Amino acid sequence: MMKQTKLAEARAYEKTYGAQILPEERPLFHVTPTVGWLNDPNGFSVYQGEYHLFYQYYPYDIHWGPMHWGHMKSRDLIRWERLPAALAPDMEYDAGGVFSGSAAELPDGRQLLMYTGVQGKDNTPECRQTQCLAVGDGRNYQKYEQNPVLTADMIPEPCQAKDFRDPKIWRDPAENCFFAVAGIRMQDNSGAVALFSSEDGFHWQYVGILDRSRNEYGRMWECPDFFELDGGALLIVSPQEMRAQGLTFHNGNDVICLQGSYDRRTHAFTRESVSAVDYGLDFYAPQTLKTPDGRRVLIAWMQAWENSQFCRDGARWQGMFTLPRELSLREGRLIQQPVKELENYRRNPVLCKDVPCARRTLLPGISGRILDLTVHVRPQQEGSLESFTVYFAQNDSHSVSVRYEVRKGTVCLDRTDSGFRYNIVNRREAPVRDQGGEIRLRILLDRFSAEIFVNDGEQVMSACIYTPQEADGISFEAEGSGRFDVEKYELSF
Ligand code: FRU
Repeated sequence: MMKQTKLAEARAYEKTYGAQILPEERPLFHVTPTVGWLNDPNGFSVYQGEYHLFYQYYPYDIHWGPMHWGHMKSRDLIRWERLPAALAPDMEYDAGGVFSGSAAELPDGRQLLMYTGVQGKDNTPECRQTQCLAVGDGRNYQKYEQNPVLTADMIPEPCQAKDFRDPKIWRDPAENCFFAVAGIRMQDNSGAVALFSSEDGFHWQYVGILDRSRNEYGRMWECPDFFELDGGALLIVSPQEMRAQGLTFHNGNDVICLQGSYDRRTHAFTRESVSAVDYGLDFYAPQTLKTPDGRRVLIAWMQAWENSQFCRDGARWQGMFTLPRELSLREGRLIQQPVKELENYRRNPVLCKDVPCARRTLLPGISGRILDLTVHVRPQQEGSLESFTVYFAQNDSHSVSVRYEVRKGTVCLDRTDSGFRYNIVNRREAPVRDQGGEIRLRILLDRFSAEIFVNDGEQVMSACIYTPQEADGISFEAEGSGRFDVEKYELSF
């Protein structure tokens, strides 16, 4: 039978070749594929008290290929245990790839996966995408005999069967039923998010359209996620072909957060605002879950499609996820903070208080490539500080920087000198709130990436960095007068 063969082959391959990758070739606390290629997070959910996380996976190469699902689980969102690959493209309806999807726990204790089955070659007019199910025990899964369960012809408006994907399911205990959102593409190439519902998770009906791109916010909308947060309703989507606006939406394929209100009776979503989710260079296709203690946590592929073909020399894996982030709304604005569980892995604190700003400052004990570093900067008096820069992953020939330009009101992340051998986009700027020259920057480094949380999560900038590990210096540079505090922890298990 083709079925068992393809999955068994992938499992045997990853077992042999995954084991050959040394721990120091990987980040410490960011998820990477067992071997080969990873893109979107899939099935990020709680199942029988543990966090499960699947991923778009092609074990046989460090470039994208026929999609499988890789699988990990964790008790605390920081330390992940590898599980064998969960799904392979082994049926007629998914032979072109097992694309992105999600997971939920069934009332009978089984785990339900819903994913996009691709038939025919992706991105061709003949391609057909449908939503399919697999049921399992947290390790092994059986595809449902009646797949597919959602097809484009269930949608009353004319839309394109070649672009109907990335179902996100959840169980609504209040209504005692399942819902799913998926990305669709209308005849004019614009994207939209369709909502479906099901009493048992297996029999589905179309409910309506939640929102549309109207070709204004990109075209096709991929990887939708929909949830309520702090009294508002949030629809997060990953539009393809975004047009940049000022400092936002520069990544071509980018991520936006549509905030509004949701009428549970009519299932109508009314959009009130649109904002960028991440201002870095590498961030796409996020997915969220709700933790047992009620937090909404987001994880994303820390890569832009445009950069994803470029690999580090000798790499045996390609693609990783961001650190999971807790979401909240503060004064109507989306706030993202590293999950609090990270604090359990902080070691060896170094605190430097009230350091005077200078052209260049090096501080004892402040260096490293796996760390959690917070810098709090304030001007001596109003208007006295012009800029403040933190350099990290630094040695004589390399550095990455985060620069706050006080008058301009921006933070710029720049990895031009990170040692990467390709001419890709290396700088991004984010607008920051004016606090009279004061700013707080929390920088998480994990060997191959940097995530910058500005002003307690008002903006986040995520980027892969390609700098050799021996470049572990950190220094501070200021123009003007001010003072700063530094709080640094190593992170380790
Ligand atoms: C987003 C995406 C999804 C699709 C998957 C294929 O990055 O294009 O729309 O399901 O990747 O790997």
